[in-house]
Amino acid sequence: MSKRVFSGIQPTGTLHLGNYLGAIRQWVAHQDERDNIFCVVDLHALTVPEAVDPGALRAKSREVAALYIASGIDPERSAIFIQSHVRQHSELTWVLNCTTPLGWLERMTQFKTKAEGRESVGMGLLDYPVLMAADILLYDTEIVPVGADQKQHIELARDMAVRFNNLFGETFVVPEVTIPPAGARVMGFDDATQKMSKSAKGSGHAVGLLDGAKQIKKTIMGAKTDLDLEFRPEHASAGVLNLMGVLQAFTGEPLDAMAARFEGTGYGYLKGEVYEATMEALTPIQARHKELMGDPAELDLVLARAAERVGAIAEGTMARVRKAVGIG
Ligand code: TYM
Repeated sequence: MSKRVFSGIQPTGTLHLGNYLGAIRQWVAHQDERDNIFCVVDLHALTVPEAVDPGALRAKSREVAALYIASGIDPERSAIFIQSHVRQHSELTWVLNCTTPLGWLERMTQFKTKAEGRESVGMGLLDYPVLMAADILLYDTEIVPVGADQKQHIELARDMAVRFNNLFGETFVVPEVTIPPAGARVMGFDDATQKMSKSAKGSGHAVGLLDGAKQIKKTIMGAKTDLDLEFRPEHASAGVLNLMGVLQAFTGEPLDAMAARFEGTGYGYLKGEVYEATMEALTPIQARHKELMGDPAELDLVLARAAERVGAIAEGTMARVRKAVGIG
């Protein structure tokens, strides 16, 4: 039996190169050898209610699903669905809420960062990792391929599964996280001390997967490097290392070989190669995405079929959970 994979992306902001290199690309690379479920996590998008525009959220969810397909996820082989279409995600979240100590959630780095400096924080933001654990545990998931920033959440999902199994008997499979060898943490092109993020403002920060060639060129060629005029591997700054990491994620070239090749050249050469590699990957994705968005009825059919198929798996797990805890 091939291993069950589950992963997802939030339909907020603009998907960027970090989402592609950290997540989507590894999903595509291992698609054939695994039993895949890929989700557009619209319930997670509600955790920042002030950023939610109802019409836009629905459209964005579709756009993200189309990006999965355009990037090479084949809906005939892998399930692509929208989280809110399978109601068991919310039901399992409640049950897991009741077995999860508050302290586990308060310790999460992402919660602390997002809550910092805000006067009032929604419960959803604290509960975010519980919903994420429900996503994973509902499908007896064995492998969760994500970028480095999600590792702590997957470890928490493991702890939650083990705790539940101890309390109520063997119910959940304990999942493993996988992080890609390169591209697991792409940093902002304007400031390589900040992770590339969907919510960051400023045009020089991220390369959006649907950005035009001109915009992509501007962002990459404008990336912050350092004050030297040419590449000096022994004191490469965070910005230079980020560009090298992105290029490595695309080409697989070892960093020392890359450093030797660029030594003494102007940074324009390195940036030029990053631009070329990015365009080579994104051009066909953008063309296919445009086609898919032109046929929303077909896309909705694909999403509905997948929700029905994975919904049956989710219901099977929920039936076990209800029996284990004595509800339903
Ligand atoms: P999200 O939407 O923030 O990001 C989606 C995926 O992209 C990866 N990623 C990055 N990788 C490299 N460099 C970056 N700068 C970068 N930014 C984001 C993330 O690690 C992630 O893999 N909570 C999740 C969504 C989720 C989920 C799940 C994932 C909900 N339920 C269950 C796995 C399993 C999230 O917010 O991802």
